[in-house]
Amino acid sequence: MAVDLLLGLQWGDEGKGKIVDVLTQNYDIIARFQGGPNAGHTLIFDGFKHVLHTIPSGIFHKTALNVVGNGVVIDPVIFKKELENLDQHNIDYTSKLLISRKAHLILPTHRLLDAASETSKGKAKIGSTLKGIGPTYMDKTGRNGMRVGDLELDNWKDKYKSLTKKHIKMLEFFDVDIQYDLDELEAEFCLGIDKLKTLQFIDSEEFLNNAMKEKKSILAEGAQGSLLDIDFGTYPFVTSSNTTAAGACTGLGVAPNKIGDVFGIFKAYTTRVGSGPFPTELFDEDGATMAKVGHEFGATTGRPRRCGWLDLVALKYANQVNGVTQLMMMKGDVLSGFKTLKVCTSYKYKGKEVTHLPYNIEPENVTPVYTEFKGWSDDLTGMTSEDQLPQNLLDYIAFIEKETEVPVKIVSVGPDRKQTITRQ
Ligand code: GDP
Ligand code: IMO
Ligand code: MG
Repeated sequence: MAVDLLLGLQWGDEGKGKIVDVLTQNYDIIARFQGGPNAGHTLIFDGFKHVLHTIPSGIFHKTALNVVGNGVVIDPVIFKKELENLDQHNIDYTSKLLISRKAHLILPTHRLLDAASETSKGKAKIGSTLKGIGPTYMDKTGRNGMRVGDLELDNWKDKYKSLTKKHIKMLEFFDVDIQYDLDELEAEFCLGIDKLKTLQFIDSEEFLNNAMKEKKSILAEGAQGSLLDIDFGTYPFVTSSNTTAAGACTGLGVAPNKIGDVFGIFKAYTTRVGSGPFPTELFDEDGATMAKVGHEFGATTGRPRRCGWLDLVALKYANQVNGVTQLMMMKGDVLSGFKTLKVCTSYKYKGKEVTHLPYNIEPENVTPVYTEFKGWSDDLTGMTSEDQLPQNLLDYIAFIEKETEVPVKIVSVGPDRKQTITRQ
């Protein structure tokens, strides 16, 4: 059976976690393919809110297996906290959470390097989540990293010590004052490793390919969003992995011809947390309303998210790069009450109108051109079927479908698992 992919089409926080949780009933295996604890995936059901960072969003279902793929970077300290949260809810994960031996480990000194790099950049900082993501992927591609499989070797601590020593030397390069207590960090790290070692380590590419042969259904869960992709995002204001569809192939060991549906998740408007260009960003009442009604605060860092209108130029670009087969629109309920809605359909780029995403979308080069729509005032949050949705919202969706040439299959009308409308 083919592997279906689910990924974010904007700058992250589109609502991926919610939809993975909703779709898990249709799958045998949920597999995270990239990113690490920079992600924050929120799931709400039965009156509880859960935020997952590294653990796949299928973990709350009884039977689905959850795989942390080779493309993921794991911080044992944060991972331990996530597992303890599951313990509190009596979730038995021991037999259904499997970790790729090839996943890389985030060391405490990776976090220090992330902080030092960001501080040294001053105003030009990326706005990283400071989870050590960039330095860990740098060690991976630089062929210096430590992997989960190394923990099965007797001498893993030697490897840890020598990499840590190198990082401490590298810290000296940054002319900034980063305070730390290495012994304390190491003790915490070792506790995390002990907990991680209670789980099953697997050769995940072998496991997933065998599962496909056995006709098991697999959903690959992405983190971040397409505009944060290391190649196709708004570089350098991106994360350090391929968040787009190709990242699922390399992050799980699944061949491109084994990919089935690609579910593209997007918000009915746009948000971004951290630095970097954002052509449709709003600095007025409308933006403030989106932030307030949508509770737009980062699930990992708590930072306020920047808000703006839907950007179809960027959305079409993301659809193209990912080969999206089905769109899923989140947070339409947040737009209830706006008299007029705007959708960016092209940019004025260096004096000319363009409909593709240009190399540089900094504000000095790009001005968004908008198409206006009539809003709706109905409260969507209690609606359960498509025929209850207001006509103006259906017109908004129809326009998105026409422009992207991809059907919108799910309309999410609230954060709860139940507030999900599937369209025929
Ligand atoms: P992810 O990183 O893509 O999984 O998304 P996050 O969890 O970081 O952010 C999405 C936020 O929106 C979370 O607080 C969700 O609970 C919330 N959410 C998801 N879908 C909806 C929706 O349709 N309506 C509203 N109002 N909130 C939603
Ligand atoms: P989920 O999976 C939103 C952003 C950071 C920063 C940039 C680089 O919840 O959608 P990093 O820590 O990766 O070096 O930060 O990427 N970022 C996210 N923004 N959602 C995320 O994940 C993000 N993960 C990273 O804010 O701008
Ligand atoms: Mg998030």
